[in-house]
Amino acid sequence: MKRVPEPEELMADPAQARAYAEADFSESNGLFVELFRRLQPTPFAGHALDLGCGPGDIPIRLARACPAARIDAVDGAEAMLDLARAAAAVDVVLAARIRWSCARIPSPEAMPGRPYDALLSNSLLHHMADPLDLWRAVREAGRPGAAVLVMDLARPADAEGVDRVLDAHAAGAPDVLRNDFRNSLFAAYTVEEVRDQLAAAGIAGMSVEMVSDRHLAVRGRLV
Ligand SMILES: C[S@@+](CC[C@H](N)C(=O)[O-])C[C@H]1O[C@@H](n2cnc3c(N)ncnc32)[C@H](O)[C@@H]1O
Repeated sequence: MKRVPEPEELMADPAQARAYAEADFSESNGLFVELFRRLQPTPFAGHALDLGCGPGDIPIRLARACPAARIDAVDGAEAMLDLARAAAAVDVVLAARIRWSCARIPSPEAMPGRPYDALLSNSLLHHMADPLDLWRAVREAGRPGAAVLVMDLARPADAEGVDRVLDAHAAGAPDVLRNDFRNSLFAAYTVEEVRDQLAAAGIAGMSVEMVSDRHLAVRGRLV
């Protein structure tokens, strides 16, 4: 099925950001943290960059799971970061280990603490107007040996596949969320396309595979 890009790169509309923040992504966000833990022999204690952090659930989960980690979390939408700051503020000790920045990827402001020990991103790739911008940011922001985990939806083979995923995972969701989810599935890349992107960006040694019925993940270490 042909890819249909997202109508907007950033999720800057406050109502859209709020609807996204209120959705239950605990299953996929939990999977993301679990995949990251599997990349580390010991609990991660370095400096991580989360690209396209949205309302912050993943950096907050990571900060809880890795009590010695510091995380820079970047998004281009202030509406998302307002929600992220509010969510983190309930735990001041945890909040002190997460630095939120509003910046567009790619830009030097989107990697304020480079070089990082880990590069993370969930559900951003399919939003990028040029996917290579994300991969170049990963390459530039990480030190050699940095852990990489980029997870995103994978584009189904056809429109029926999109409907199957929507019925399985968003049957009772509000219209605004179902619509966002549908757009995301049409905008997502396939495993083969992501492998081609990595080759074009000069990033070697990553595994790219399906990690759920709807998600793919890129995992490995920068050379
Ligand atoms: C679908 S959300 C994912 C949020 C979060 N990572 C999560 O898993 O819940 C994608 C986020 O990427 C942000 N985004 C999209 N393109 C971006 C860009 N070029 N630079 C910075 N942020 C971007 C959007 O504003 C949005 O918050």
